[in-house]
Amino acid sequence: MIKVQENISVKAYNSFGINAVAKFFSKFNSIDELAELLEFDQRPTSNEKRKTLILGGGSNILFTKDYNGLILKNEIKGIREIKEDEHHVYVQVGAGENWHQFVLHCIKKGWAGVENLSLIPGNVGASPMQNIGAYGVEIKEVFYSLEAFHIKDKKIINFSLNDCEFGYRESVFKRKFKDQFVITSVTYRLNKAPKFNISYGALEQEMEKMGVKDLSLQALSQAVINIRSSKLPNPAEIGNAGSFFKNPEIENSKFEILKDKFPAIVGYNLPNGNTKLAAGWLIEQAGWKGYRKGDAGCHEKQALVLVNYGNAKGSEIYLLSEEILQSIKEKFGVVLEREVNVK
Ligand code: EPU
Repeated sequence: MIKVQENISVKAYNSFGINAVAKFFSKFNSIDELAELLEFDQRPTSNEKRKTLILGGGSNILFTKDYNGLILKNEIKGIREIKEDEHHVYVQVGAGENWHQFVLHCIKKGWAGVENLSLIPGNVGASPMQNIGAYGVEIKEVFYSLEAFHIKDKKIINFSLNDCEFGYRESVFKRKFKDQFVITSVTYRLNKAPKFNISYGALEQEMEKMGVKDLSLQALSQAVINIRSSKLPNPAEIGNAGSFFKNPEIENSKFEILKDKFPAIVGYNLPNGNTKLAAGWLIEQAGWKGYRKGDAGCHEKQALVLVNYGNAKGSEIYLLSEEILQSIKEKFGVVLEREVNVK
């Protein structure tokens, strides 16, 4: 029998460093342990429902109150080469492996495709959940398949690339299958020969600064690490969950109107004809960058990142996000959507 702990602080298990309490808490290292824990009797009173939350690295979640249910932390480990062909190696990775450690492993092995995604906090299991992306690359480009435990049917289901319906920070696991599956492993199809993606302007500048002559997986990874470290707060020092909001997509006609009023507005054309706005720019222009109230704040170097300077409550961070949302709506007529999972 695996031990379930009671009234445990999750402060160490969420990168925002929010001191919420889980009524019940346990870690699992295998599918069998997960299955056993899902049977745990939470002794709900008659009008209370059982509640279970699966936690990975805890780097994309904001606890706004104590969790009156069972939190299960996924610690399924393992990195296994399962097959290869002329151009690719297929690597199956336990959902509880740390993402950045996996990226470093790939770089050491010479497997290409995830180098632009260096230093993204969190675990492997979260990578398909929200199709993580940075510096011109999204996980869907190297995703092959995943295995997930169906909570109700108690069986493992295999998902192919198409099954996951990846979009910008989106997948079926955030939409139609929300809270129905626990991702247990992810298989990536990595490239034996790198196809470097340096389309993101700051990358080339950084590598020039680094004096890189021959482009390599190591150099590109280091450039990403340098850029991230210069702009994004290290969760070990200042609590945060990366970008708090998504970059909103608006119709081009609306973008043209905004551009007339705000000529410096930052937007990128999308293949579907819409424009994606840089939410960080909007938030900075609305005067929030560097704002702090108590221990809740808007990061001074990247306005899209909300931070906990120490003892902020999740509800305070949430309130700040609500104020930002309202002010962006008033100033630009654009409605931001939260990227972080609010509990
Ligand atoms: N900007 C500002 N002020 C700010 C922040 C940004 O004007 O305070 C402007 C920048 O000048 C730039 C533009 O906004 O022109 C884009 O900024 P940046 O390159 O920092 O990227 P982002 O759009 O803010 C996205 C991802 C990040 C990812 C970076 C790099 C989202 C929600 N965020 O941020 O992902 O690292 O691009 O590819 O798509 C995350 O998801 O948690 C995350 C950190």
